[in-house]
Amino acid sequence: MGELYNENLAWVYDEIYQGFIDYKAEYEFYKNLCNGSNSKRILEIACGTGNLAKSFTTDFSTYVGLDFSESMLNIAKKKFPAGNFIQGDMRQLNFVKQFDNILITGRSTSYLLNSTDLKQTFKSAHTALEDKGLFMFDCIHADLFIPYILKNSSVVHKSTYNKKQFERDSYWVKNKNNNYHLIDWKSTYYQLKDSEKIVLGEDSTLFRVFTVKEITEALQHSGFKILEIMDRETYAFDTNVYVCQKK
Ligand SMILES: C[S@@+](CC[C@H](N)C(=O)[O-])C[C@H]1O[C@@H](n2cnc3c(N)ncnc32)[C@H](O)[C@@H]1O
Repeated sequence: MGELYNENLAWVYDEIYQGFIDYKAEYEFYKNLCNGSNSKRILEIACGTGNLAKSFTTDFSTYVGLDFSESMLNIAKKKFPAGNFIQGDMRQLNFVKQFDNILITGRSTSYLLNSTDLKQTFKSAHTALEDKGLFMFDCIHADLFIPYILKNSSVVHKSTYNKKQFERDSYWVKNKNNNYHLIDWKSTYYQLKDSEKIVLGEDSTLFRVFTVKEITEALQHSGFKILEIMDRETYAFDTNVYVCQKK
């Protein structure tokens, strides 16, 4: 993982993404897909800086937010001290039949770099779910993303949050094996003040995009029935949401 989730830039992530993503709409979207609420228990994997945590804690009997990055979790705990946050790796969850719903949010499946990681994560979620529990996650659609980046070598995303204006300028580097599913992505983060463009930091990260076929096979292999694959509009890149049930 790159710099973005470390001590120096986690605050930039927190602010810039609140301009990219409408977290209220994100919450409503997932809540409507979830297996009930009130008495139901939910695990959010890759909860980041906890933008969905307060709403889930209000509406569900148990909410656990899990993330790999201590820096992201520190911000989450500051914003929502009553939140139940834990540090962990989605590939190796330590839960057995403890949740009715499990989510991986913010297209964080991109940090699973190969099919072994993907299958381990799905199996881990399967073990952590009650029978017939729901598993949902969003991910970048490889079949559409790869032609896009082959045509566009760089991309600029702007964000406004708390009257601050941010810009992220990104470009990608072809990896040595010519594997377009594994992307080396470089970004510079700026704050725009008056006519100045102030550099906040740089991030270089490797991420993976999977095809629908790859995801479908890994889910079936891990004991999930796919209920729905939805197209979801986001601030950038074609995205699918998978809704699955533990068999
Ligand atoms: C793009 S952010 C999404 C954060 C949050 N879901 C949101 O929408 O704002 C990706 C998150 O995935 C987390 N992450 C990456 N690899 C992980 C892993 N193996 N296990 C758990 N979390 C991981 C990162 O620490 C980061 O917080």
